[in-house]
Amino acid sequence: MEFKSKNLLSKIATNDGHGENSPYFDGWKAYDSNPFHPTQNPHGVIQMGLAENKLCVDLIQKWIRENPDASICTAQGVDKFNEVAIFQDYHGLKEFREAVAKFMGRVGGNKVTFDPNRIVMSGGATGANETVMFCLADRGDAFLVPSPYYAGFARDLRWRTGLEIVPVDCKSSDNFRITTAALEDAYEKARTWKVNVKGIVISNPSNPLGTILDRDTMRSIVGFVNEKNIHLVCDEIYAATAFRSPRFISIAEIIQEMDNCNPDLIHIVYSLSKDMGIPGFRVGIVYSFNDNVMHCARKMSSFGLVSSQTQYLLASMLLDDEFVVNFLRESSKRLAKRHHVFTKGLEQIGISCLKSNAGLFLWMDMRPLLKEQSLKGELELWHVIINEVKLNVSPGSSFRCSEPGWFRVCFANMDDETVEVALDRIRAFVLGRENQEPNKSKHRRKKCLRLSFSSSRLYDETIMSPHIISPHSPLVPTKT
Ligand SMILES: Cc1ncc(COP(=O)(O)O)c(C=O)c1O
Repeated sequence: MEFKSKNLLSKIATNDGHGENSPYFDGWKAYDSNPFHPTQNPHGVIQMGLAENKLCVDLIQKWIRENPDASICTAQGVDKFNEVAIFQDYHGLKEFREAVAKFMGRVGGNKVTFDPNRIVMSGGATGANETVMFCLADRGDAFLVPSPYYAGFARDLRWRTGLEIVPVDCKSSDNFRITTAALEDAYEKARTWKVNVKGIVISNPSNPLGTILDRDTMRSIVGFVNEKNIHLVCDEIYAATAFRSPRFISIAEIIQEMDNCNPDLIHIVYSLSKDMGIPGFRVGIVYSFNDNVMHCARKMSSFGLVSSQTQYLLASMLLDDEFVVNFLRESSKRLAKRHHVFTKGLEQIGISCLKSNAGLFLWMDMRPLLKEQSLKGELELWHVIINEVKLNVSPGSSFRCSEPGWFRVCFANMDDETVEVALDRIRAFVLGRENQEPNKSKHRRKKCLRLSFSSSRLYDETIMSPHIISPHSPLVPTKT
């Protein structure tokens, strides 16, 4: 008997909103089919497309070892098992909300006190962003999002909500700053398209730029949303990754200072995925200054609560002042060092990056290496970098950057030895050609290099089978 399969599933289930079919899947296929290992696969692809923070795992492990009673699945903590395991109130454990509010305050430089009663849980910032969208807008409405922006926004803000993103093009000539002119431009464009703009979503610090918003820019964005009477959602997931001055400023601090600001328009999304390096714990937070949004988000949080076991553990960890102070200090130090090693390594071979002081990545300027200044030119270079240099970096177009030639390079998801291998590979890529043509100008030499590289491979390469399927959803990593 033959079954009809058409229209068995919903539009959401069958549309492409998850974004899994993007060409960037190639990068993940390349990595998954040939992952680098220092001894077992030294010529494999190095994963530089994952914004993971692995630099302070040891500190968390040490704390867990020293505090076995904080885990309910240990001999020391098991007496609490029953109490914690049956807990399912969507307000969350009181201690957890207090601990997170305190942590957010500390990350923001103790300039603002966050109210534990406004802490709403969600499944990571992914869930938190979607929850806020569900609270603020209806299918067909739009949010302005300064570009380049986090690739996952295209899914998290749009897929299940049916919302639209209107990019706000930020230019390298402005150091990718968010200008009022660019905001006005996008807003007006949306209006001519007859799209109802409900707000702006920003990530501060920025993924993929690694920059933080300055006070004046934040004030002008707050002024803009007040004037238009639209919302501002600030994704502050990278708040504690600011490793050098100027310091990170939370939007909460800005609205505290501004007299003529309607706080009902302001909402923060937070998560411990990046600042603590624990994305697997799925701790996302919605913090809204709008009571109605806060209550609605809390009801919706039933769909993405943080497990009580995780809440219990983190409450204990984050209320340990000595640990938190030391963790944040050490994390900044290690991020700064890693950032320095990478930027210096690239600088020595003439590759510059956007000046940054936060995040887990660099925004690398490869424009001089493009064969042509176009999306095609960018993707061509990207394929060489993945397939021949064997680095899975992310092209700017995956962040909807309007200028070709920028690449995001993650630097905190690997150990020191892998960093050296990655830098050696980039060096070999860029300098190999220069040595062959010493009389050419630097710029010219770089241009020639990209042409030659594909014919003279530096590394043994097993031809990638096009039908190798990733064991993981590629979108799990690509979102980061
Ligand atoms: C700006 C931004 N928001 C949200 C997320 C999703 O984070 P989470 O793992 O907490 O869902 C990411 C992950 O990379 C991100 O970069």
